[in-house]
Amino acid sequence: MKAVVWHGIGDIRLDDVPMPKIQEPTDALVRLTASAICGTDLHFIRGTFSGMKPGTILGHEGVGVVEEVGKDVRNFNIGDRVVICSTIGCGYCPFCRDGYYSQCDKANPNGPSAGTSFFGGPAPTGPVNGLQAEYARIPFAHTTMVKLPDEVSDAQAILCSDIFPTAYFGADIAGIKPGNTVAVFGCGPVGQFTIASAMLMGAGRVFAVDAVPSRLEMARKQGAEVINFNEEHPVESLQRLTGGVGPDICIDVVGVDSYHAHQGPAAKLEKMQEQQFEQELQQNNPAGYKPEGGNWVPGDAPSQALQWEVESLAKAGTLSIIGVYPLTMNSFPIGAAMNKNLTLRMGNCNHRKYVPMLVDMVRAGMIDPTMVLTEQEPMTSAIDAYKAFDERKPGWMKVELEPQAKAA
Ligand SMILES: NC(=O)c1ccc[n+]([C@@H]2O[C@H](COP(=O)([O-])OP(=O)(O)OC[C@H]3O[C@@H](n4cnc5c(N)ncnc54)[C@H](O)[C@@H]3O)[C@@H](O)[C@H]2O)c1
Ligand SMILES: [Zn+2]
Ligand SMILES: [Zn+2]
Repeated sequence: MKAVVWHGIGDIRLDDVPMPKIQEPTDALVRLTASAICGTDLHFIRGTFSGMKPGTILGHEGVGVVEEVGKDVRNFNIGDRVVICSTIGCGYCPFCRDGYYSQCDKANPNGPSAGTSFFGGPAPTGPVNGLQAEYARIPFAHTTMVKLPDEVSDAQAILCSDIFPTAYFGADIAGIKPGNTVAVFGCGPVGQFTIASAMLMGAGRVFAVDAVPSRLEMARKQGAEVINFNEEHPVESLQRLTGGVGPDICIDVVGVDSYHAHQGPAAKLEKMQEQQFEQELQQNNPAGYKPEGGNWVPGDAPSQALQWEVESLAKAGTLSIIGVYPLTMNSFPIGAAMNKNLTLRMGNCNHRKYVPMLVDMVRAGMIDPTMVLTEQEPMTSAIDAYKAFDERKPGWMKVELEPQAKAA
């Protein structure tokens, strides 16, 4: 079968690989009808989240049809349409039972202390082969898969596999109360859903910070108040537009590939800040990878978004971090946060906690997640699609891959 395979930093290929097989009684085998590319995949290819094992199939978003189930999978039939949760949860350990599926004790083959296990991730997460493939083995299928109603299309469902639940989780752990002012940093696909989720939870105002005009335009269409950090200083603008108070809540949807401003009033960096970003870049890139050409260029200021968020927040505000930072990243403006009495919430999404509810909301017509889906491509075009998404090309907000479609 065909699958997108990670070979090295800056090197992914569409390969022919062996068909997956049921290995455990709790596994299912799914024929994927939709997959997608996530910003998290870009961290792995840019090398800013290290530890990928060559040969791992990428992708942690999937929708498909059940082909086969192990003998301990009792809640699905062959032929059922399912959406797959990005993170794997056993459903029976204390963490899963408490809704912390991304901290499952059993899913990660490296043991209970190894942390989140998800499809298509680095060695410490499993690694479990991913979902940018024609078929996939789904561990703990009884919990990791969610049955889809006929009214929810593949295009809608693929957005409920990872990015809508992650965004909803980010807004949920932030504790948004009706009327709150929320600033979302990063307006990629996950950021767009974070804006939508904050609005669903009753936020009074939502600010959206990024520097990519097409992404800010989509945020503005959703009703967010946009700030381009290459045109104005985001901290100054957030303060000024909120009467000098700052947002009650900031949500980081940027992650390690964060940029500093290259133009405008925020572009001038202090010497110390420059040195700090340089040090962070080295820490997160132990292989010393240097990209050639226009693709897989890491962000140049890993902690920039975190710094702006802490600085702009209102006193006693809350920072919710869903942007992914690697295990090697150890800088955070703790002093500034501590002295403002900030609350910090963060983590990998507990997908299974939110997916059934979000699928129901889509079915009920409360939200159409396809507003963010700008491209649908056969999986045979996956590498080009990856490159366009990596470059943040206008019109390449979110890409659905169709594993069963043949190239035109
Ligand atoms: N926690 C989870 O479970 C989970 C799940 C899915 C994705 N994620 C993470 O969410 C993040 C966003 O994902 P995505 O698919 O939208 O990625 P993306 O790369 O498309 O979006 C990131 C956006 O941040 C912007 N940006 C860069 N520097 C910035 C700064 N200093 N301030 C504000 N904006 C800045 C970029 O221009 C880009 O538009 C990634 O880090 C991804 O790994 C986390
Ligand atoms: Zn993801
Ligand atoms: Zn568990």
